[in-house]
Amino acid sequence: MVHRKKLVIGVFGFGVVGEGLYRILQQTPSLHAEIKKACIKHPGKKRNAPQELFTANKNELLNDEEINVIVEVIDDADAAFEIVKTALLNGKAVVSASKKMIAEHLTEILELQRETNLPFLCESAACASIPVIRNLEEYYDNDLLHSIMAIANGSTNFILTKMFQEKLDFTEALLLAQQLGFAESNPKLDVEGYDALNKWTILLAHAYGIVTRPEKLVFTGIQNISLSDASVATERSYEIKLVNHAVKLLNGKVAAFVLPQFVEKTSHLAFVRNEYNGVVIESGFADKQFFYGKGAGSLPTGSAVLSDISALRYGYKYEYKKLYYNTPLELTHDFYVKVYVSFDELKTIHKDEFEWIEEWHGGQERSYLVGVIYFDKLAKSTWWKENGVSLIVMPEGIIEEIDTRNVKKRSLELAGLR
Ligand code: HSE
Repeated sequence: MVHRKKLVIGVFGFGVVGEGLYRILQQTPSLHAEIKKACIKHPGKKRNAPQELFTANKNELLNDEEINVIVEVIDDADAAFEIVKTALLNGKAVVSASKKMIAEHLTEILELQRETNLPFLCESAACASIPVIRNLEEYYDNDLLHSIMAIANGSTNFILTKMFQEKLDFTEALLLAQQLGFAESNPKLDVEGYDALNKWTILLAHAYGIVTRPEKLVFTGIQNISLSDASVATERSYEIKLVNHAVKLLNGKVAAFVLPQFVEKTSHLAFVRNEYNGVVIESGFADKQFFYGKGAGSLPTGSAVLSDISALRYGYKYEYKKLYYNTPLELTHDFYVKVYVSFDELKTIHKDEFEWIEEWHGGQERSYLVGVIYFDKLAKSTWWKENGVSLIVMPEGIIEEIDTRNVKKRSLELAGLR
């Protein structure tokens, strides 16, 4: 018979996710899990739960021997890490939703898991309600996992949908995302791509065994996407999405980034609207598989936390199979990407960095080009995300190899740039 542990939970944080979890647990008595205490910063604040549940003293949870699970859903990444560390060292299993904390402290968290041999689960920190971490861990063998394309930030997807389908302006769309509890308390983390980047740092470890720092990955958000970009997308039957992209190249290394991308209107990711997330996985023999679900919000995120809590009853842990049982893969910048770049002033564009430029459109308001650039050049420069320049990866995206002979000179001549 399977021994099922009684779960006594201490929760840190009672915001969007913490309260969502509290409500969900009230409706799932069969789980036999109870929240004994919730630690919060402002105990005086009125909340939708009995006053005696709350404390501002973290040690009441961390030192309580009856509490065997710490759920950490707070905003402050450094404080969150201290809680997770103490909880694991005190012998408690941990469930966390803090993407920024996990991405920034990934190496230490891996070390703590090895040292304590305790579960640290964080499904809600990737694509909220979509069980992507567990699938990458359990189902996809390293050799077979070719590529992953994901919409991993609900707020930016919501904003893009509202702006381009429903013609709201950016500020209105963002305000709505904040009111609905989708956005981070500092929405810059969503809009400028940091949140999607943090999620990519977490997922790359489970997908390919890659342990990296978020700042090492090439990324930007949707802050420079303009209405003229949306018009170009419409003309070409594309949609603009903020896409987390990873591809295992022929040399066995992994190309990975988080950038806006044009996707065909008929593609799986184009179907992902509003706060939904989507993940398209390409794997050997199975071809494409598509995961779809709510990527932000109190109850969808709370439901992923609940699923992690439930998994603790049978002692589930991530094994980080790709990291410990396979040879972990390496990241590379040695490939090319085809990109669209729109801009107000030509002088902001480093056109000489392109291998070739295929299209050149001088507009009344905004100009744009489509060209192929060596990825390492993008990684080493920032012109493409400054001064309002908007870079969007073309649908064909990554190009592994090109024949560079004469191509560059000829194409710049054709484009009238030399
Ligand atoms: N701000 C995040 C998002 C919340 O919009 O995706 C879910 O992680």
